[in-house]
Formats: sequence, C-alpha cells, structure tokens
Amino acid sequence: MRFLGLVLRRVSRISTHIGGFFHQVTELLNNVLPAILPPAELTRLIQSYYDYGYRGAADYSAREVHGTGLSTWEKTVLTQYNIKRGTIIVLGAGVGREAIEFARKDLRVIGVDTNREALRLAVRTTQEERLSALFVQANFYQIPALPAQADHIFLCGIMYSSIPGRLSRQAWLKKLSLHLKMGGLAILSFYINRTKESRLDRHVHQFNSWLAYLPGGNPSYQPGDFVSHDHFLHAFLDETELRSELTDAGATIVQLNWEEQYVIITWRIWQ
Ligand SMILES: C[S@@+](CC[C@H](N)C(=O)[O-])C[C@H]1O[C@@H](n2cnc3c(N)ncnc32)[C@H](O)[C@@H]1O
Repeated sequence: MRFLGLVLRRVSRISTHIGGFFHQVTELLNNVLPAILPPAELTRLIQSYYDYGYRGAADYSAREVHGTGLSTWEKTVLTQYNIKRGTIIVLGAGVGREAIEFARKDLRVIGVDTNREALRLAVRTTQEERLSALFVQANFYQIPALPAQADHIFLCGIMYSSIPGRLSRQAWLKKLSLHLKMGGLAILSFYINRTKESRLDRHVHQFNSWLAYLPGGNPSYQPGDFVSHDHFLHAFLDETELRSELTDAGATIVQLNWEEQYVIITWRIWQ
C-alpha cells in the first residue's frame, strides 16, 4: 500500500506540473488576443462572459444576491460628495447591488445593463421593496437617457477598464458628459495591475505591439490590455496614464484614488 501511495503522489505531482504548464499557455494565448481581435469582438466576448455568469440569476432570491451591499469606498464617496438626492445613472447595474442601495437612500435610479436575467432580479427586488428605480436593458455605449438628466453617473466593478482602446474610452467619456447636469459627477471604477511586470510580460507586450500593426491587427492595442476568462480589461500602468487619458478627453479630475481604483470626474464645460 505504501508503494501505491508513493506512485499516486508522483502521478499527482506530474499532473500538477502539466496543469500548471497548460494554465500558463492559456494565459499567454489570452494575453495575445487584445492585439489581434478588433475592439467590437472584445466587447462581444465581455457580453458572452456575463451572459454565461448570469445564467439563471433571475431565479435566485434577492437576499442571496444583494447580501454584499455597497463597498466601503462606495459608501465613503456617497458621504464625501453628499450624494443624497437627484438622479443617478448606474452603468453595468447587474442584479442591482449598488442601484438598489441607492434607491433605498431615495436617489432616483436609472440602472443600465445588457444582461436581461440580471435586470429581472434587480426589478423584482425593486418591486418587492416598493423602491423607485428604473432598469433598462441597454448597452452603456449608447446610454438610453435624455441629455443633461443625471446628477451623477456611476460605473462600477472596474468596468471603465472594459472599454478597449484609449481613443474609444475618450470618445465614450465625451458622450458620457452629455448625460450629466452641469457640475454633475461621474464616478468610474478602473483596473490596475498590482503585480510587478515580469520579463515574459514585457516580451508579450513587444510581440503584441508588433502583431497589432499587422494587417487585420488591433491598432488600438496598448500595454496593459489583457483577456482573462473571455473578459477584456485594460490595466492602467500608473496614475499618469489615467490622468492624461481623462484630462485629454476634456474631463476635470475631482479625485483619483489609485489604491481603491476609482476616479471622480466632472466637466467644467459641455463637450
Ligand atoms: C463587474 S459586473 C458589476 C455588476 C454590479 N455593478 C456590481 O458591482 O455588482 C459588470 C456589469 O456590467 C454589465 N456590462 C458589461 N458590459 C456592458 C455594456 N457594454 N453595457 C451595459 N452593461 C454592461 C455586465 O452585464 C455586468 O452586470
């Protein structure tokens, strides 16, 4: 029996090594995708990622799903900027984690998400609690609200980083500004890479930059772009990159919290 145990241990070690190897190959291939897939395709992948993740979401009980409520930084922002009344548009509202909390605080909420299953659950919670929130199935690239209607816009869950390409993010920001009242705030959550860049990462970026400029490549590829489990994200490399992206798009930065990965912007003049 001892011999059998030793053999099994050996086999298990070998499988771990093989598993690790294939995991690395998967990561590597995924990191090449942003250089060769067009932005529209990367965005489509994101939709499939959430469609898969939210399958059957509408059948869950609201209590099961909304347990986590607002995160600490979200609560801090509400208090710090005295966000107590007015209209707030929540982009990528999902099952309503933030939107429902905002509605409980008597804000007028418009929640936008592409995923119908997730929104069905959000609507059910709203109805059960007799809250005032409107949920719309739509893409946040075409926000279905009248111009200058919102006091605040909230894009949570690192979703600012889900927009592929610096120029596209800047064009999106300009469109976003049209939905805010003068002096209104947009609160955007973004992704940063907390691990130190390895030599392999540098080689992959060099290779990707070359691929991106081949015919059919994705010229909007930037270092920091990656795909994980079919979800595209752009990891901002440092504050300077993010600050210049926002200010070059005409936004004024009210607060940038790098550690908590959120930025609050406004527009002094309409774009
Ligand atoms: C990370 S989840 C965040 C969900 C929720 N806000 C939260 O924090 O629990 C991102 C959400 O954005 C939605 N989403 C992704 N791309 C979108 C798009 N282009 N337009 C609208 N919603 C989108 C997804 O369906 C998903 O519900």
